[in-house]
Amino acid sequence: MDFDPYELSIHEDPYPLFRDLRENHPILYSESKDFWVVSRYEDVRSVLQDGETFASGQGTVPDGFLPSKPMMIVEDAPYHTHLRAAVSWRFRPRRLRSFEAVIEKVSGELLDAIDPTAETDLVQAYCDPLPVAIVTELLGIGFEDREAFKVHASRIIHPGGREGEEVMQAQNWIYEYIERMLPSREAQPGDDLISSLIHPPAGVPKLNQDELLGFCSMLLIAGPETTTNAFSNALWVLDREPELRSALARDASGIELAVEEFLRFESPAPGLSRVTTRDVELCGRTLPKGSRVHMLFASANRDESVFPGADRVDARRYPNPHLAFGLGVHFCLGSRLARLELRIGLAQFLKRFPSFALIPERWERLPSEVARGFVKLPFRPTGGASTA
Ligand code: HEM
Repeated sequence: MDFDPYELSIHEDPYPLFRDLRENHPILYSESKDFWVVSRYEDVRSVLQDGETFASGQGTVPDGFLPSKPMMIVEDAPYHTHLRAAVSWRFRPRRLRSFEAVIEKVSGELLDAIDPTAETDLVQAYCDPLPVAIVTELLGIGFEDREAFKVHASRIIHPGGREGEEVMQAQNWIYEYIERMLPSREAQPGDDLISSLIHPPAGVPKLNQDELLGFCSMLLIAGPETTTNAFSNALWVLDREPELRSALARDASGIELAVEEFLRFESPAPGLSRVTTRDVELCGRTLPKGSRVHMLFASANRDESVFPGADRVDARRYPNPHLAFGLGVHFCLGSRLARLELRIGLAQFLKRFPSFALIPERWERLPSEVARGFVKLPFRPTGGASTA
């Protein structure tokens, strides 16, 4: 069986295939992609937890793409440990508390701008601009440049038919923009993340310029994209679950557990890979050193042995040890911020549009190899007739 988890024809509903993999081919070598696919929860977990054997340094997407500046997501210990120690203090709960008000304000403004009588694309109006606004706020990037960042970041994440050179140009645009910000942050530090990484507190390692550029551009590229997809996936699930939608609109206290379930049920990062640093046994097979192993998070998150009734949405599921943010040393650094955005953003949306309805058959899935979400999600605010 030759399996390509990124084959677009399975995008609409890949889960029956994932189930077949878990049941009949828990480890599978894909000749066309030249990687081993693991699909069961325990196997994905064991790969994620052994960063020494399953390394990230040769890239974590199947084609092994590596950026030109250091980025922790594709580094291994001890360098990864150093990079992470330099920034992780900025992502602690106390530091993020001030973002609650910012998220509320931005989401309120975006919702105000939606015409309640017209058909609107939710990705464009809400799922996309909210996370971009939050990450640019975190970095202290002016409102006027947000759109340009979005355009360049999207050229990198979704190169489509673009040539490598065009992708490189977009990447350089981001590096150069951040580089231009550095002298003023050096001289006059503000509350933003860049200032605080240039002037870290005592005992926290300081990043050099290349590391700083790599980190900031990674946040701009990876953070908003995944969160946008998580939003669109959640809204798509809510549209299919009208009772849950009404219950959360009436009482948002269940939103925390519901968000975890949306992340499990439709994982925005469906899979990533590692490369083995030695010969290793996995699922009864011996994989030679240098093998690429692809972990299907989206399949692990539907594994019945861990999540009873895995193909059903259970918004009260607890515990919910999903792997949507990964696990181990590379566990998503932005998970707290993403969760905050999703909880506040979805609760506010449901308060404003408690009976929204997506327009059937009009949504468009992201034609992406590395992300799961939507590029278009047209909806009617009241659930009534379209005025479009
Ligand atoms: C729902 C939204 C998000 C999802 C599903 C997600 C998913 C992930 C996953 C699966 C990883 C692990 C990568 C690996 O093991 O190779 C990761 C790492 C990372 N994420 Fe997220 N992410 C989200 C939002 C964010 C946000 C908002 C930020 C920052 C503003 C962020 C920053 C990072 C960073 C810096 C890493 C690398 C950590 C390391 O290598 O130590 N993420 N993310």
